[in-house]
Amino acid sequence: MSETVLKIRDLKVEFDVPAGRLPAVNGVSLDLRSGELLALVGESGSGKSALTMGLTGLNRGPRTHISGSAEYRGTDLVAANGKQLQKIRGAGIAVVFQDALAALNPVQRVGKQVAEMIRQHQDISKADAQRKAQDLLKDVGLANPQQAARAYPHQLSGGMRQRVMIAIALANDPGVLIADEPTTALDVTIQAQVLALLKRMQAEHGSAIVLITHDLGVVAEVADRIAVMYAGRIIEVGTRDEVLNHPQHPYTIGLLNSMPRIDGPRPRRLAAIAGSPLTGVNRPTGCAFVPRCPLAHEACQERPPLEQRDGEPGHLDACVLPGTAKDTARDAA
Ligand SMILES: Nc1ncnc2c1ncn2[C@@H]1O[C@H](COP(=O)(O)OP(=O)(O)OP(=O)(O)O)[C@@H](O)[C@H]1O
Ligand SMILES: [Mg+2]
Repeated sequence: MSETVLKIRDLKVEFDVPAGRLPAVNGVSLDLRSGELLALVGESGSGKSALTMGLTGLNRGPRTHISGSAEYRGTDLVAANGKQLQKIRGAGIAVVFQDALAALNPVQRVGKQVAEMIRQHQDISKADAQRKAQDLLKDVGLANPQQAARAYPHQLSGGMRQRVMIAIALANDPGVLIADEPTTALDVTIQAQVLALLKRMQAEHGSAIVLITHDLGVVAEVADRIAVMYAGRIIEVGTRDEVLNHPQHPYTIGLLNSMPRIDGPRPRRLAAIAGSPLTGVNRPTGCAFVPRCPLAHEACQERPPLEQRDGEPGHLDACVLPGTAKDTARDAA
């Protein structure tokens, strides 16, 4: 059994908005093991990026309230101060975003940006850091790493920039790599290459990867485990095969039903389930999916915990309905 690198418990990320306090992440508990790729899926606004924010401390401000805990190798990221977080960010937990152009420094050569990331966390000479940066740029598949190192971000293509971002993310062998829609802005061929690169890095560096994506085709291809988020909570989690083949939660069942045939064209976004997701400040005490759920029942008025129910061991879901009711939902689809 591999080591648990990240232990998230009842994590909440709330924002002050004009209408009140918005629970973007509303009590998430999750374990991440080294060397695994966990796909985090869910509709727009379900809190995937806010969860990333809660873990990395990025964009924390006076209007953001974070509670619960997220232990990275013994350090609680929620309780950590700015200095501790800065140390862990990059070396322990690294993040790759959708928009590499915005994340890179426009007026600095990319080789230098990689080298500086290395020097921030390792005590090595400038020359050694530069050599290591070039090795990394080669590692992430840039055909001419020397030339790439000398380029400014705008001189590189979108796919090349995303590779540079991944090189920066991997510069200090992070235990956890969070990739928030890393391929959404890229065309399909380049997307496949970047995903293959992430998988290779997962194998070679042993990092745990959290891949946030709307693309269920991608999830089916690369994920070891899948966590499904709805209205700030994880409502189902399990191995890829378990979740894809035996989904338990009516929301997951709906998501998968909206997925096109495997041999058909792939949608860029998740197809809609009837009704709209909960995004306001007021949340029901019970299951948040009730207004859209074809199986909603009186029993759903109380908050359903995420736990082992009818799935295989390790396959948890937050639907209180008996398995027979879920079978009906699956058959009706
Ligand atoms: N800085 C912020 N201030 C106020 N509200 C925010 C802030 N960031 C996110 N939110 C709100 O929190 C909720 C969760 O947003 P989040 O960006 O985490 O969703 P997401 O799952 O990443 O969606 P997408 O798939 O579109 O990226 C949304 O209702 C969003 O409007
Ligand atoms: Mg997001």
